[in-house]
Amino acid sequence: MSQIDQLPAGVVVVTGTSRGLGRELVNQLRQRGRSVIAVVRRIVSCTLPAHDDDLQMVEADLSTPAGIEAAIEGIELALGPRSLAALVNGAGAVTPVGPLVAHSSNAMTAALTLMAIAPARLSVALAQRMVPAARVLNLSTRSAHETFPGLSLYCMSKHALHSVSRSLQLECPTTMAVAELIPGEVDTDMQSDLRTPDPADFKMAEFFRMNQPNLIPTGLAVAFIAWVLLDTSPDDYARTDPWYVYDASTHPQWLPQGVAFNYPEP
Ligand SMILES: NC(=O)c1ccc[n+]([C@@H]2O[C@H](COP(=O)([O-])OP(=O)(O)OC[C@H]3O[C@@H](n4cnc5c(N)ncnc54)[C@H](OP(=O)(O)O)[C@@H]3O)[C@@H](O)[C@H]2O)c1
Repeated sequence: MSQIDQLPAGVVVVTGTSRGLGRELVNQLRQRGRSVIAVVRRIVSCTLPAHDDDLQMVEADLSTPAGIEAAIEGIELALGPRSLAALVNGAGAVTPVGPLVAHSSNAMTAALTLMAIAPARLSVALAQRMVPAARVLNLSTRSAHETFPGLSLYCMSKHALHSVSRSLQLECPTTMAVAELIPGEVDTDMQSDLRTPDPADFKMAEFFRMNQPNLIPTGLAVAFIAWVLLDTSPDDYARTDPWYVYDASTHPQWLPQGVAFNYPEP
């Protein structure tokens, strides 16, 4: 396994850090000696360790335009004179589930704002604070490339996020290196949100219940995220295909010895 830090010096901003992948990523980044600005919807519900100079928190609801602008302002303030080495757009939500016909314009707007507009705005608004070769990592999903019944808001928002990633790759190649990463089905609250609905309302709940034994532990999925963010070379990082946790060709470089997925092709 390689652990040669290829990310330039500077602060890492992570969104969606109250729980799940975002919280564990903050922990692993701190273990690697990185200063982190953690963006949370509500500081009160965040169980990260108390802040110090190397872990600051910014409170913002990223599902509204005003919340996005508050996040940008808060990050600028927390950065002070320091520069940004990376931005990880992790905040996301699968709820509300249900068919498109059941969703209001407000629910559609909130989902698109959280999962596509916030990553786009944060990337461009913070570009001037980025070091050369700074990295943007967008947490994606197979739902960015396929559409599943009852997951309309999530699928359309993550499809839009895929397009945001491509736009940034095509339009800002000298300002930032942008990549998309699919962490697989990970054992976080998001998966429980997919299992708990009544299958009469959300048929895929049956699949997600059945699939529970195959979930990837959060720490392992984040080891993959941290490896992509910190340890891949500049030439490899900003590839056009998403980084995919089940891509066996990368496993020797980040998967601990003796660990294997019993669910290689979902
Ligand atoms: N888990 C999986 O199987 C899986 C698979 C593929 C992709 N992903 C992606 O990985 C990312 C992290 O997922 P996860 O599994 O860690 O999910 P999670 O455990 O449900 O955590 C989601 C995070 O996003 C934050 N968030 C939600 N709405 C927000 C808002 N309006 N403003 C600010 N923050 C908000 C949540 O904050 P609150 O605590 O305030 O709600 C929480 O910190 C997501 O983008 C997801 O799409 C996950």
